[in-house]
Amino acid sequence: MTSGVRPEGTRAIYPGSFDPLTNGHLDVIERAAGVFAELIVAIVVNPQKRNPMFTLDEREKMLARCVAHLPNVRVQHFRGLLADYVTKTDVDVIVKGLRVVSDFESEMSTALMNRSLSNVDTLFLMSDAKYSFVSSSLVKEVFFLGGDVAPFVPAPVLEVMTSKRSALKGS
Ligand code: PNS
Repeated sequence: MTSGVRPEGTRAIYPGSFDPLTNGHLDVIERAAGVFAELIVAIVVNPQKRNPMFTLDEREKMLARCVAHLPNVRVQHFRGLLADYVTKTDVDVIVKGLRVVSDFESEMSTALMNRSLSNVDTLFLMSDAKYSFVSSSLVKEVFFLGGDVAPFVPAPVLEVMTSKRSALKGS
């Protein structure tokens, strides 16, 4: 975290691929929005993750609908390093969710690297236990194999997933 207190309150960023947003992500967003004055939910355009299910535009629109009830939350996207983006946008703190102990192992080195590059700390929120097994990749797999993912994604996401599957079947 940068030194000094921003008079208007702390600006936090919650980065992710959000391909798609899950209820676990949304739970972290809602809780972080209750703690920080301003929360940027940043979709990371990651060239290493090939063939995303959703385009950037679709992810942005879904996220905007899912956080419409949170006035201090903004949806943005960026390419490149998170550390560069937090410096450019004058963010005070990075927020991440931790589901299980194995998340911590990779998140710890990422947090230390981001702090080394930008001098911005990462604060972790424990994911709600009921979402500890929920991930975007599992949701996609279950969905495309015909399973019910309604308990795991917000309604606007399920809507777009369903129409995408219908379009794929029709093509
Ligand atoms: O939702 P994800 O894919 O698990 O989120 C991972 C993400 C996008 C937050 C992470 O890969 C990231 O921060 N990417 C930006 C590129 C970057 O800064 N890489 C170096 C990390 S130290």
